Amino acid sequence: MSATCVVGLQWGDEAKGKIVDLLSDKADFVVRYNGGANAGHTIVWGDRTFKVSLLPTGILKPHLRSVIGNGLVVYPPRLLEEISQLRQAGIKVGDNLAVSDHAHVIFPYHMEEERAVEQGSGAAIGTTGRGIGPCYQDKVGRTGGIRMGELLYPEHLRERLKALVPRKNRIIAALANGAEMKTFDADRICDEYLGYAEQLRPHITDTTRILQQGLKAGKHIIFEAAQGSLLDIDHGTYPYVTSSNSLPGGIWNGAGIPSRHLDKIIGVVKAYTTRVGRGPFPTELDDGPGGIGERIRKVGREYGTVTGRPRRCGWFDAVAVQYTSALAGVDEITVMLLDVLSGHKQLSICIAYELDGKRIEEFPSDSFLLERCKPIYETMPGWDVDLTKARKKSDLPAQALKYVERISELLGLRVSIASVGPDREQTIHL
Ligand code: IMP
Repeated sequence: MSATCVVGLQWGDEAKGKIVDLLSDKADFVVRYNGGANAGHTIVWGDRTFKVSLLPTGILKPHLRSVIGNGLVVYPPRLLEEISQLRQAGIKVGDNLAVSDHAHVIFPYHMEEERAVEQGSGAAIGTTGRGIGPCYQDKVGRTGGIRMGELLYPEHLRERLKALVPRKNRIIAALANGAEMKTFDADRICDEYLGYAEQLRPHITDTTRILQQGLKAGKHIIFEAAQGSLLDIDHGTYPYVTSSNSLPGGIWNGAGIPSRHLDKIIGVVKAYTTRVGRGPFPTELDDGPGGIGERIRKVGREYGTVTGRPRRCGWFDAVAVQYTSALAGVDEITVMLLDVLSGHKQLSICIAYELDGKRIEEFPSDSFLLERCKPIYETMPGWDVDLTKARKKSDLPAQALKYVERISELLGLRVSIASVGPDREQTIHL
């Protein structure tokens, strides 16, 4: 096999990190191709828990090379912080980390610009506040983007920042519309970022070439999507999406690897659905304290890894996942957090929507239409057994197995793994 992609099929936080971690024992590269420090990947090894935001989860395995592809937006102080935390935990971060010279750089003014938009425009998306959107805007706008490779040329960087920062100050002031905002000084930012550049210099390189050479040499690559497919900028629930292509389509651009090298795409879903931030969510269980939504949140510890925000929780939405699994070209599914659903008398799966009085079975990805959709459910009996100790298929109660099989049937895809806890051992190969 040459390349596998692990992609979340809902609104993110599907526990992709665990699957990447399981697969990466046999890989040579783990590559991030989209997003930035808006992602949060948690890996549990026995009593050790590691959280990474920008670094690929492969970084925990020094035998492989972790790559931050050109499709990312990198906030250097955050990257250095993650590197230093891992080193303190005894994990090697050296020549096993490569950062694309074409990845774009997030500056503090990006975060301030985002704050101005989110707070002042009345059109908040509920972003993670990491400067992701404004940095991608600068990339696509072409005149304002600065790439990681440029950090290595001090005079050039100073010149660019001197031209850009006053413009940014004016834009932020205009967006703030009188609210108090920070202003920025080009020289200060430049000095600060040159310091980061010196520390990151050994890692900044042409990652596309490294990956292409790796493929030629028969190496195995795992592409690790950040965010979920429903947050994809093109195919997600626009405008309540992130600013990059989280679907595997992002790999070609975000890592420079043609998609024909991908020979397996693994779609990761939770046994239910969550969403952080604003936007339509038909199966949301907004049923108050003591309700099912709250219970799923508590049992599943559904609080954002990056922002700590409580995640919105709801039933599994097969209509949404049919849509994303087709877009992603998924070969097989892994169902995560199955244990969280223990203890419910009855479970619901959304199999269609009602839109303006009509039954529809296709997912309307336009948020203004999705907002009007009411879920049509089919119900299944629940189970009352703690699944966290289950290790093999025969340990699962019949109802849990049926629930997974129904997901498989509705998606028309094989479910290869049911996960019943964060630890590697809590993995049932079906
Ligand atoms: P941004 O990516 O910070 O611009 O946020 C845009 C939307 O995507 C917001 O609703 C965020 O909550 C959501 N989002 C971004 N990254 C993640 C993630 O890794 N998991 C879940 N939601 C995310």
